[in-house]
Amino acid sequence: MDKLTVPRLRKMKAVGEKITMVTAYDYPSALLADRAGIDMLLVGDSLGMVVLGYPNPVQVTVDDIVHHTRPVARAAKRALVVADMPFMSYHLGREQAVGNAARLIQEGGADAVKLEGGKAVAATVKEIVDVGIPVQAHIGLMPQRASVGGAFKVQGKTAEAARAILEDALALEEAGAFSVVMEFVTTEAAQLITELLEMPTIGIGSGPGCDGQVLILYDLLGVYEEAPPFAKPYADLNRVVTEALTRYRDDVRSMVYPGEEHTVHMDSGEAKKLKKKRT
Ligand code: KIV
Repeated sequence: MDKLTVPRLRKMKAVGEKITMVTAYDYPSALLADRAGIDMLLVGDSLGMVVLGYPNPVQVTVDDIVHHTRPVARAAKRALVVADMPFMSYHLGREQAVGNAARLIQEGGADAVKLEGGKAVAATVKEIVDVGIPVQAHIGLMPQRASVGGAFKVQGKTAEAARAILEDALALEEAGAFSVVMEFVTTEAAQLITELLEMPTIGIGSGPGCDGQVLILYDLLGVYEEAPPFAKPYADLNRVVTEALTRYRDDVRSMVYPGEEHTVHMDSGEAKKLKKKRT
């Protein structure tokens, strides 16, 4: 199975083939997503909230992302693995940004990195791309910024706001980003931006006009009761897992589990000897 490449993603955009992306944070979920034919796996900093129980993504560290990228990269035979650059891991100059991006590639095994920010981070994107690391940009709602003094609200509601997002996208493309995630952007703005960019746009809550879609795996699988309004649950793992655990608890308490079929025995001679020794 051939690994999906950046040029192949561009070709998919050119021929109107939609691109699929989900987050993955461990080996089994990455294995299942890869086998299901998902094109890109994102080790997102949503890891902090959905897996590590942090209150927001800003506590996630480069070490956290490296640790979780390793099993995802081992599982991904075809999907392109993108690792998120966490809060403040690319803001302190070229050395820090390139150094951390390199860690995600070398130690984590990612194929590309993703970072949040518009025009203001275009120079950083260029510095990382210039050393040969593919960068996916992330504009619109930026959870790292929204968590520190911002708000989780729809982006691009006015023509002026939409134009500002477009300018960000164009600057990031110019800087060499291979793709851009657009989060919680109005459908009209996302569609126009998608039409004006050569790089593929991957939407989350940004309507059907993007070149592809990304969802947080646990929203898609219905693990948590609370999910953003744009997330479509394709399964109800919350119910399925809770039911399974409750049945297991009840079976253990009532001694239904383990049953005879889950049990191993000595042969009867050995069992007799054992009993004799005790008496
Ligand atoms: O961290 C993440 O999971 C993300 C997605 C919301 C795109 O950045």
